[in-house]
Amino acid sequence: MNSTFFMCKPDAVERGLIGEIIRRIEATGLKIVRAELRVVDEATAKAHYAEHEGKPFFGELISFITSSPVFVTEISGPDGTWEIVRKLMGKTNPAEAAPGTIRGDLATSISANLVHGSDSADSARRELANFFPVR
Ligand code: GTP
Ligand code: MG
Repeated sequence: MNSTFFMCKPDAVERGLIGEIIRRIEATGLKIVRAELRVVDEATAKAHYAEHEGKPFFGELISFITSSPVFVTEISGPDGTWEIVRKLMGKTNPAEAAPGTIRGDLATSISANLVHGSDSADSARRELANFFPVR
C-alpha cells in the first residue's frame, strides 16, 4: 500500500464541501486512513509551500491556508495513489480544470481552489511528515 497527503483548504471547509470532496475520493476505492480538522500554523504552512517562497502570491497563499480550519488527510491506495488524487483534483487554475474534476466542477479561483494533493511520491512523504509528525 501507498499513501499520499490531501487537504481540503479553508474555502472548501467554509463552503461545506468536505463531504462532497471526500465522497469523490472514496468513490474511487481509495481509503481515508487519517483525518483531522485543524488550523495550520505559519511554520507548517511555510514548510509545506517552501517551493513557492519568493513568488508574488506566496504571502497570500500562506495567509489563506492559515486563515481558518482545513481538513488534512492521509489517503491510502495502490502505488501512484498521489497521481490518482491529482487527477481527481484537476488543474491548479479552475478555468483550465476539466469538468468532472473537483476544481473543474466546484471552484472558480486559482487562489481559492479548494484542495491540495501531493504532486509526487517524494512530496507525499515530505508532506505527510510535516502535517502528521510522529509524536
Ligand atoms: P497545491 O495542491 O495547493 O499545491 O496546488 P497545485 O500543486 O495544483 O499548484 P502549485 O503547487 O503550483 O501552487 C500552490 C498553490 O498556489 C495553488 O493551489 C494556488 O492556490 C496558488 N497559486 C499557484 N499559482 C498561482 C498564481 O499564479 N497566482 C495565485 N494567486 N495563486 C497561485
Ligand atoms: Mg502544489
